Amino acid sequence: MSEKKQTIAVIGGSGGLGSALALRWGQAGYNIIIGSRNAEKAGIAADRLNKLMGLKTARGLSNYEAANTAEIIVLTVPFSNHMAIVEEISVAVQAKIVVDTTVPLVPPKVSRVQLPEGGSVAKQTQEKLGKNVRVVSAFQTISAAHLAEDQQIEGEVLVCGNNVDARTCVISLVEAAGLKGWHAGPIDNSVVSESLTPVLIFLNKRYQIDGSGIRIVGH
Ligand SMILES: NC(=O)c1ccc[n+]([C@@H]2O[C@H](COP(=O)([O-])OP(=O)(O)OC[C@H]3O[C@@H](n4cnc5c(N)ncnc54)[C@H](OP(=O)(O)O)[C@@H]3O)[C@@H](O)[C@H]2O)c1
Repeated sequence: MSEKKQTIAVIGGSGGLGSALALRWGQAGYNIIIGSRNAEKAGIAADRLNKLMGLKTARGLSNYEAANTAEIIVLTVPFSNHMAIVEEISVAVQAKIVVDTTVPLVPPKVSRVQLPEGGSVAKQTQEKLGKNVRVVSAFQTISAAHLAEDQQIEGEVLVCGNNVDARTCVISLVEAAGLKGWHAGPIDNSVVSESLTPVLIFLNKRYQIDGSGIRIVGH
């Protein structure tokens, strides 16, 4: 008998990173809910996802309803609106795992590290949601375009969070998306993942790399 897969709400799942992750997880058998500020837009994104998968398992809901319904909530929204959305879904995510992919990019200087107060977005999320929520940070170093277009991706994912079981769960999600994930320590360490992205953007421009990433070496 096959194990029942969890339900994942992808908040901002109509966007670049969220839609690419939703497709990979949907294809891996997870139940996907696309969350949006606009429930109608969420429904359209879910229909598109179902068409791509050749299934009818994805559905679209408002951000709050998506977070309230799912077991795992993945935040794929811009830094500029991230905290407002965290506040909006706060009650709905209690006792759950929240995966934060947010990079604190402040346009126009997106190839410069600009960390928020407190050091990191994911740490802010953990503080805002409280200890009852297991916040895990991941995917900051993965290009959404590569996720959407490439079969195989060389880049790897640092997974940070204070709860080991939650990190292990998120590493399974990283693997289900076809990537290699690493336990990278507590949520304090997310500052490194969040700082790597502007450096990668700098490298992309300086060396004309189409979506640079990172890989852990050693044996
Ligand atoms: N793109 C990448 O390659 C990449 C890689 C690693 C990490 N990330 C991180 O992942 C997050 C999402 O990136 P993305 O490129 O997927 O973003 P995006 O496409 O610009 O936006 C994702 C979704 O966020 C929602 N949203 C909520 N508030 C918004 C606002 N004020 N303005 C615009 N959209 C808003 C929108 O969905 P609704 O309108 O449906 O609510 C939108 O479709 C970011 O924090 C980014 O740093 C991105």
